[in-house]
Amino acid sequence: MSKVIAILPGDGIGPEIVREARRVLEVLQKDGLDIAFEDAPLGGAAYDAYGSPYPEFTQNICRRADAVLLGAVGSPQYDNLDRPLRPERGLLAIRKDLNLFANLRPAVLYPELANASTLKPEVVSGLDILIVRELTGDIYFGQPRGISVNENGEREGINTMRYTESEIRRIGHIAFAAAQKRNKKLTSVDKANVLETTELWKEIMTDLNREYPDVTLNHMYVDNAAMQLVKNPKQFDVVVTGNIFGDILSDQASMLTGSIGMLPSASLNETGKGLYEPSHGSAPDIAGQNKANPLATILSAAMLVRYSLNNEQAACRIEKAVGKVLQQGYRTADIAEKGMKIVSCSEMGDAVINAM
Ligand code: IPM
Ligand code: MG
Repeated sequence: MSKVIAILPGDGIGPEIVREARRVLEVLQKDGLDIAFEDAPLGGAAYDAYGSPYPEFTQNICRRADAVLLGAVGSPQYDNLDRPLRPERGLLAIRKDLNLFANLRPAVLYPELANASTLKPEVVSGLDILIVRELTGDIYFGQPRGISVNENGEREGINTMRYTESEIRRIGHIAFAAAQKRNKKLTSVDKANVLETTELWKEIMTDLNREYPDVTLNHMYVDNAAMQLVKNPKQFDVVVTGNIFGDILSDQASMLTGSIGMLPSASLNETGKGLYEPSHGSAPDIAGQNKANPLATILSAAMLVRYSLNNEQAACRIEKAVGKVLQQGYRTADIAEKGMKIVSCSEMGDAVINAM
């Protein structure tokens, strides 16, 4: 039976970048990969169609699917909706609904883009970091939350940072196992000097290390980690951290590689089912102009093929093609150096397909 891939274009540049990634997957399909596509809206697009950012229609398709490919959600026109109806809530809801607790965000520098980074080429060349971000807990989901009037009659905003031991353990296992397959170095990022939640996090990571004795574990406070990421990013191999710190550090790490437009991500549950999306947002300012960089989404499709379809060879075929188009000098605006010819989103897609 075909493996079903749910396609969720989302908002902003989502539809354009997902279109290119889908065309890449269709090349594999033509060459014999047994996959089928089902389209569904998420975020603002879903609100427009069904009045909810993660409607039942989309839930049904995504729950049945073997993997989900997502563009991005969010656009200013939805900013004044009630909070539960906003596009971002749709993204959080699908992560929670499919139990996608393990978010893998690789930050790899392609040699051709060393000059596109705002850091000196010698600081970033050869960079290859994997950020493992916990995705279904922490202050993103902790109760109580909300904005209400407190006992002094003043409005107050509340969010709650919390992690259970089992939540920390399961993401820890993913991170240690990933480190074992790489350079066997794991940095756990916390704020244990201030926050008890992350004190527990640190203790459990230390405990887990006994099951992975070949991995060297170190701990870093999040403020220091942010500094070290720009000072000496190549000291990192695998980084494991909670939802909010991972959100921030992964954006930061992405810029080391020249553009956030290059970074894919995978969000996995216990069974390997996953949602794959670029790490960047919906870029409403350039939406609909065929200018966006589709490479992060195309690389997300490669991760989908690797992790949810277990086809390493096909995944590598996509990744090699991306490397090749960069070598050939194809650049969207976000990764172009001065004087280089700029291609559109769809031209970049064409180039990748030709390179395949
Ligand atoms: C991300 C995004 C999301 C997050 C937003 C859009 C809810 O920033 O995937 O990193 O905060 O997780
Ligand atoms: Mg983010």
